[in-house]
Amino acid sequence: MQEIRRCSVGEIINLRHRVLRAGRPIESANLTDDAAESTIHYALFEDGKAVSCLSLMHSQLDSESAWQLRGMAADVGLQGKGLGGKLLKYAMDDARTLGFSNLMWCNARITAVGFYEKYGWKVCSEEFDVPLVGPHFKMKVLL
Ligand SMILES: CC(C)(COP(=O)(O)OP(=O)(O)OC[C@H]1O[C@@H](n2cnc3c(N)ncnc32)[C@H](O)[C@@H]1OP(=O)(O)O)[C@@H](O)C(=O)NCCC(=O)NCCS
Repeated sequence: MQEIRRCSVGEIINLRHRVLRAGRPIESANLTDDAAESTIHYALFEDGKAVSCLSLMHSQLDSESAWQLRGMAADVGLQGKGLGGKLLKYAMDDARTLGFSNLMWCNARITAVGFYEKYGWKVCSEEFDVPLVGPHFKMKVLL
């Protein structure tokens, strides 16, 4: 059975670690503002197990209030099956109703740029490097 809902960071930290910080200490999967009251964590669960996750944080882009998308992941072995896309669309739809901002941005791994583009995101920076992770572009979308 598949379920998509808001969740606690505790429900997704292992998934985040497995996909995004493999081989590094579990603490490396913690994100600044994970515990902030305004942060919203989302997951897609299959038979009760989190298999895709993302987090939305209050932030700014070019001095405008904006959601920052962080920790976007689909489980190893389950990528390319529509899970991440379904969750991203759910979270964008949810954020649109919340009134904080109609702008969302993220630091996208180069390998994921095509994924975000499927959902209307556009590259809005030069390429830059994130130490220990690799090359990224900043991307944004209007909700
Ligand atoms: C990027 C990621 C979250 C996408 O989730 P996913 O479940 O694999 O993606 P989906 O199967 O839902 O794909 C949705 C659509 O995006 C496309 N897509 C998925 N990954 C893509 C990629 N890396 N490049 C181009 N297109 C991609 C799919 O083909 C699909 O298109 P379609 O609707 O036309 O068929 C997932 O692959 C992942 O966790 N990757 C490793 C970690 C990572 O890079 N996270 C993002 C950090 S910024």
